[in-house]
Amino acid sequence: MAYSQLAIVGGTVVNDDWSGPASVFVQGRRIARLAAATDPVPEGIPVIDASGRLVLPGGVDPHTHIQMSLGDYTTRDGYREATTAAVWGGTTTVVDFAIPRPGERPLDAVRQRQAAATEGVCDAALHACVVEWDDTVPEQLRQIAALGIRTVKLFTTYRDVVMADPATVVNVMRTLQELGGMAYVHAESNHLIEHDQQRAVERGQIDAAGHASSRSELAEVTAVREVLSAARSLGAPVYFVHQSTPAAIDEVRRARSEGVRAYTETCPHYLALDDQHYAGDSPELFVCCPPLRSPATVSDVVARALAGDVDTIGSDHCCYDRTQKWTDRSDVRVMPNGLPGVETRLPVIFTELVQRRGMPVERFVAITSANPARLNGIYPQKGVIAPGSDADLILIDPTERRTVSATDLHMATDYSPYEGRELAGWASTVIVGGTVVLDDGVFADNPLPGRALVSQPLP
Ligand code: URP
Ligand code: ZN
Ligand code: ZN
Repeated sequence: MAYSQLAIVGGTVVNDDWSGPASVFVQGRRIARLAAATDPVPEGIPVIDASGRLVLPGGVDPHTHIQMSLGDYTTRDGYREATTAAVWGGTTTVVDFAIPRPGERPLDAVRQRQAAATEGVCDAALHACVVEWDDTVPEQLRQIAALGIRTVKLFTTYRDVVMADPATVVNVMRTLQELGGMAYVHAESNHLIEHDQQRAVERGQIDAAGHASSRSELAEVTAVREVLSAARSLGAPVYFVHQSTPAAIDEVRRARSEGVRAYTETCPHYLALDDQHYAGDSPELFVCCPPLRSPATVSDVVARALAGDVDTIGSDHCCYDRTQKWTDRSDVRVMPNGLPGVETRLPVIFTELVQRRGMPVERFVAITSANPARLNGIYPQKGVIAPGSDADLILIDPTERRTVSATDLHMATDYSPYEGRELAGWASTVIVGGTVVLDDGVFADNPLPGRALVSQPLP
């Protein structure tokens, strides 16, 4: 329901730096003001009663792949399906990747993706992606920055698909420095992985059951070290996507303490799922890169998230379905990798870190909303409840728990890696740009199309 004005009263407002009882007043698409909970609501303003609920800035998911074609497979969702699922899960801003198809220029991939953002029910930001360096790339990156995109994905793995060589990584990082931009790096050492995969072939274990052993923690740490050296030498910022090992997170923390602007993202699956799934009936459904790690590693990553060493949590949402996952069962090098998760990101983190392990809700807001907004140049438009910010708000009843079933979710797939888990942290009401899009299980379409967000220069 779209209102020109709205008041959310009776709840506990949570930002990343404070929380407390307050009323939130919305005018049009934006937050107009916050007021003491005791202040009366002027007559005529529609009211949402948030008693007993937390009122949070909508989630900002810094890592979603929407309609991604990588290798032979394309994920099942477009902007409409992905953002609808995001909103059901309490996320009101997604950040997608413009990964160029073979022969496509990064600039053209960006233009095509930005146009698609209007199909969404919430706003979307974008990362560009560079695979190969040539003389045209600096000018393309300037034009991409002029379009409001300042983050660029680089893969150190997936040879012959999207892998960038080390010189490309350095050249892109250097060019981005002039543009207030930042590299977003998937860091896994490709030659170590290919070596381990060759050994797996020789053992006859190149299927999903052997996935974890053919993409080692050492491969991740090795690549993180190399990219950190480049960042240090250039004085450039760098963001590591989907870190899955304590040693890699520690490298980033150490570099940061020495003045390198380096940031760690991890994902719900590296905090809540482990490599025992590769010994199960359908290991393909859990194939992602980096792979799920041992229970001991998972608990070490959780400890670092609780200690404040993780800056953001991204879903790394990849909406493949079971048919796709099962097509190339015999070879993990060919089967599609990645897990669906844009809808379950907030509930998994709320349950695992806030409810089970006592993470403060302010910190939950930091890693799932405020920091992703900052590190994408869209703060304070997103990621905070403050006057002038977009009125993207979610209401969570912390006592409400639901058991995950893929049939109840809204992602364009037929499975969830969290099937059967009881989770809290579901948004009962979701307001997107001042419009109540989800209320007590009823989804009302957003009359305002999603926007392609413009990123400001990064610090
Ligand atoms: O397994 C994953 N993460 N697939 C998606 C592409 C990527 O590496 O982010
Ligand atoms: Zn990746
Ligand atoms: Zn990814």
